[in-house]
Amino acid sequence: MKGQPCLSAGYPEPYAATADTYDRLAEWAIEKWGESPRPHMAAFLRRLWSDRGRPVGEVLEICCGTGLMLEQLAALGYSVTGLDRSETMLQEARNRLGDRVPLIRAELPEIPVRQEFDAVVCPAAALNYMPDLDSLLKTFHAVALTLRDGGSFVFDILSRRRLENDFAQIWAGDLGDLAFIWKFEHDRSGAFSDLTYTQFLRTEGPAKDSYTAARELHRLYVLDRDAVREAAVEAGFTDIAVFDNYSSEPAGDSTHYETWTLTRA
Ligand SMILES: C[S@@+](CC[C@H](N)C(=O)[O-])C[C@H]1O[C@@H](n2cnc3c(N)ncnc32)[C@H](O)[C@@H]1O
Repeated sequence: MKGQPCLSAGYPEPYAATADTYDRLAEWAIEKWGESPRPHMAAFLRRLWSDRGRPVGEVLEICCGTGLMLEQLAALGYSVTGLDRSETMLQEARNRLGDRVPLIRAELPEIPVRQEFDAVVCPAAALNYMPDLDSLLKTFHAVALTLRDGGSFVFDILSRRRLENDFAQIWAGDLGDLAFIWKFEHDRSGAFSDLTYTQFLRTEGPAKDSYTAARELHRLYVLDRDAVREAAVEAGFTDIAVFDNYSSEPAGDSTHYETWTLTRA
């Protein structure tokens, strides 16, 4: 697991201990951090693909997590495949989607699929886990190889501003049976933020007020716009555009979530 200090620091790997609460935290992030709801992301994708006048049928989601987005896209009639490195997240996706959706366990930049796709997507800031531009570039190359000519690649990332300023604090939530704290610390180098996440989950059963505790360390890397664009061009993508959080507005200085749309030449 390149670039994640969790194991050497004595933490489980990201999402190993918290996959079963991920969906609830995703809802919380939509409300508190302005992350785009998955149905809104799916509507953006459908509009983009239909505006381009090139039919999209088969879609690969890299870093699919618990399958929230796969579920949305499948409901819109797309034939979907998911890929993720986390066994626990894929198990949640399997529970959600049943056996009808192919799910692949692999770690980017590896994309071990034989099939070609009309589109690849990567929502919810998963590429901020890429530890360096070399890994990002290799991932872009691997995505390009899985896409048919003219295929579409859409992903979102947290902006530098978001990681550097707005997240540099402690966030806490209380959802009744689940309480949690996120502590963000932006590294002085400016290259990444460390997010220490602690949760307490009330256990079911006769014992009242009994909790399990879990703690994870996630390192999220800053990906500057110019560097991302350069990597995308080098991997052979064209029509590169960056929007503000799944809207039609171009990304600007105040953008928190950058939505990137690319076409494989
Ligand atoms: C914030 S979650 C996003 C999940 C999903 N896309 C969604 O919309 O909810 C990030 C996911 O990226 C996965 N991930 C991070 N780095 C990865 C890598 N290098 N290769 C494969 N999966 C990765 C994590 O395991 C996690 O499931």
